Amino acid sequence: MNMFPAVDPIPLPAPVWLFKALHVATLALHFVAVEVFLGSLLVAVWLSLRGRAGAGGALGALRLNAASTLARHLPVVLTFVINLGVPPLLFAQVLYGRALYTSSVLIGVYWIGVVFLLTACYWLVYRFAARAEAGRSAWLLGLAAWLLAGAIARIYSTNMTLMLRPEQWGAMYSATALGWRLPPADPTLGPRWLFMLSGGLVMGGLWMIWLSGRKHLTEGLRSYLVSNGGRLAAVMVVAQAPVAYRVFRAQPEAVRAGLNGTTVYQLAGVAWLVAAGLILALGLWCAWRKSPASKASWIAAALGLAAMLSAVVYRDGIRDLTLVGKGFDVWQRAVATNWPVVALFLVVFVAGLAAVGWLVSVMRRAKPVSEGGIEN
Ligand code: HEM
Repeated sequence: MNMFPAVDPIPLPAPVWLFKALHVATLALHFVAVEVFLGSLLVAVWLSLRGRAGAGGALGALRLNAASTLARHLPVVLTFVINLGVPPLLFAQVLYGRALYTSSVLIGVYWIGVVFLLTACYWLVYRFAARAEAGRSAWLLGLAAWLLAGAIARIYSTNMTLMLRPEQWGAMYSATALGWRLPPADPTLGPRWLFMLSGGLVMGGLWMIWLSGRKHLTEGLRSYLVSNGGRLAAVMVVAQAPVAYRVFRAQPEAVRAGLNGTTVYQLAGVAWLVAAGLILALGLWCAWRKSPASKASWIAAALGLAAMLSAVVYRDGIRDLTLVGKGFDVWQRAVATNWPVVALFLVVFVAGLAAVGWLVSVMRRAKPVSEGGIEN
C-alpha cells in the first residue's frame, strides 16, 4: 500500500530537473544566510560578553567593536534568511508536497509557531544590535535570539525528517489531530540539526573574513576579524567533519548504499570534503597572516557557497533515496512543460538573483557612522 496521499492530477508545468536545480540553488542560498546568521549571532554574543567581562583596555574595545560590527549586520542577514527561504519552500512544495504538507500538518502547532518565534527573534536581534552599537551590554538579548533561532532550526529539521517517515503518520494522527505532538525519537534528527548549528560557526568565521575586507573599518578591527574569523572557521570545519559523518552513519543501510553508489551524490560528498579542506587552509592562512585582504574575503564567500551547494545536493540525495524506498519517486511525475512561462520565469528569476547580488554589494559598500568607534 502506498502511504502517501494521491498525487495532484495536474501535471507539473516544467521538467522535474528544472525544479530540482532551482530548489538546490535557492536552498543553498537560504542555508548560507541561515548559517551566517546563526554563527555570527553567537560570535557577537560571545564577544559582547567577553568585551564587557574580560581584559578591558584595547583588547576589550576591539572585542566590543567586533561584536558591534557583527550585530549591526544581523537584521539585514535575517531579512536574507527569510526572503531566500521562500523560493525553496515553493519548489519543495511542488516536488514533495504530498510528504511535506502531511508532516507540516502533523506538527502544525510548532510549524505555525515558527512565525511567532521568528517575530520574537527579529525583535531581539534589533534590540541586540542597537545596544551593541551603543557599546552597551547586550549579550543576554543576543543569546535569547540565538536560542529562538536554534529552536526554529530544530522545528525545520523535525519537519524535514518527519516528511521522510510516512510509516509514522497514521499513528501520530490517530493519537491527536491537533498538531501539538512531536514525532517519535529519530536517530537522524540530532545529527542533521547539529550539522546546521556547527556549520553556523564555520560560516560565522567565513563571514568575519568577508567583513574584514571592508576598507572603512579600522586596521585593528579588520585584522582582529580576519585572524579570529580564520581561526574560528578552521577549528569549526574540523569539528563539523565528524558531525557530517554522523549524519551519514545515522541513515538506514539502503540510503547509505544509495549515497555511495550514485555518482552525483559521491561527487557532492567529495566536493564538500574538498571545500571543507580549502576552508581549513584559508582559515589557517588568515589566522597566521592576520592581515586583511579583499582576495581572502572573496575566497571565503566562494568556499562558503561551494560547501553549502554540495551539502544541499547530498542532503537531497538522502531525501530522494529515503522516499524512493517508501514508494515515492520524485522523478515519476506527469509533466506538461509550458515553455513560454518557463522562459518568462527564468528571466524574472535571474533578475531577482541579480537584485539580491546588488543588495549584497550595497551592504558591503555601506559605511555606517558608528562603526569602529567604541571606546572602552
Ligand atoms: C531564523 C530563521 C530560520 C532558521 C534558523 C532556519 C533554519 C533552517 C534549517 C536548519 C533548515 C534545515 C532543516 C534540515 O533539513 O534539517 C531549514 C530548511 C529550510 N528552510 Fe529555513 N530557517 C529559517 C527561516 C526560514 C523561513 C522564514 C523560510 C521560508 C519562508 C525557510 C524555508 C526553509 C526551507 C524551504 C527549507 C528546506 C526545505 C527542503 O527541505 O526542501 N526557512 N531552515
